[in-house]
Amino acid sequence: MNEIRNVGIIGAGQMGSGIAHVVALAGMKARLYDVSEEQTQKGLARIQKGLERQVASEKISADDARTAMSLIETSVEFSTLGDLDLVIEAATENEEVKRKIFRDVCPHLSPTAILASNTSSISITRLAAASDRPEQFMGIHFMNPVPVMKLVELVRGIATGDETFRASKQFVDRLDKQVTVSEDFPAFIVNRILLPMINEAIYTLYEGVGSVTSIDTAMKLGANHPMGPLQLADFIGLDTCLSIMQVLHDGLSDSKYRPCPLLVKYVEAGWIGRKVGRGFYDYRGEQPVPTR
Ligand code: NAI
Repeated sequence: MNEIRNVGIIGAGQMGSGIAHVVALAGMKARLYDVSEEQTQKGLARIQKGLERQVASEKISADDARTAMSLIETSVEFSTLGDLDLVIEAATENEEVKRKIFRDVCPHLSPTAILASNTSSISITRLAAASDRPEQFMGIHFMNPVPVMKLVELVRGIATGDETFRASKQFVDRLDKQVTVSEDFPAFIVNRILLPMINEAIYTLYEGVGSVTSIDTAMKLGANHPMGPLQLADFIGLDTCLSIMQVLHDGLSDSKYRPCPLLVKYVEAGWIGRKVGRGFYDYRGEQPVPTR
C-alpha cells in the first residue's frame, strides 16, 4: 500500500473541517466534500478561523497557515475521488446516510484507496459491509475539536486487513496524534463511557435535581471536568448525542442507555447545540445563557 498523500473527507461539518485542517497542517492534500457548496464554504471558513486562532496563540506561523489553506480543495462531486489514497467519511451520525455514501463513493475510488468512517458509535463491520472493500475499511474516530484533541480511536471491522490498520496508524502518527485501539462494539471506548454520563446529566435536569448552571458547575468544580456535561453536549451536537445513545440502546439492549426524553425534545425542536446557536445554552448573544 502506498503512503497516504491525498485525503478526501466527506462531510464538511465540525469534524470534517477539523480533519481537513489537521491533514493539511501535516502537509497532506485534503479534499473536502459535502452536499452543497454552501456547506463546503462554511467548512473552509471554519478552517480559516481555526488556523488564525492557532497563529494568534503562536502554535503555528502565518506561513504554516497559508500553506495549509493552499493544500485544501472542496468538491460536491464524488466523481473527483479517483486520485485519493484515503477517504474519511465524517457526515451526519445516521447509519442510512453513511451506508448510502459508501455505496455511492465506491465506484469512483481507486482500488487501493482506504475507506474510513469517523463515526462516533456505529458498527464499523456493518458500515464496511456497505462498501466494496471491507478489508480496506477502518474506523478512524477523531475527537472534537480535532486540531486541539490529542486522541484518535482506531477501530477494526471484522474484515479489516493488517495492512489497512498499519497504514491508518501511520496516517494518525503523521498527524502527531495519540492512537488508542477499540474493539468494534457500540460507541467504542470514549463514547461508551462519556455519553451515558452526559445522558445522566440531562436526566438530572429533566427530573429537576438541578438547573443547567448547577449541573455544569457541579461537574466542573466537583469532578474537575474542564467543561460541564450540558455544555459539552451542546458542543458535540445534541443530534449526535441522541444518535449515539440510540446506537448504545439498540446495540446493547439495556434500559440504562435509554435516551432522556428531554434530549429527544431538544432535538425535535431543532435546538441541537452550538452549531445552530441554541441547545442547553443560547449562544446568540454576547454570553451563553442557559435555556432552562
Ligand atoms: P455536523 O452536523 O457538524 O456535520 C455533518 C456534515 O455532514 C454536514 O455538513 C452535512 O451537510 C454533511 N452531510 C450530511 N449528509 C451528507 C452526504 N450525503 N454527503 C456529504 N456530506 C453530508 O456533524 P459533526 O459533528 O461534524 O459529526 C460528523 C461525524 O463525526 C458524525 O458521524 C459524528 O458522530 C462524528 N463525530 C462527532 C463528534 C462531535 O463531537 N461532534 C466527535 C467525533 C466524531
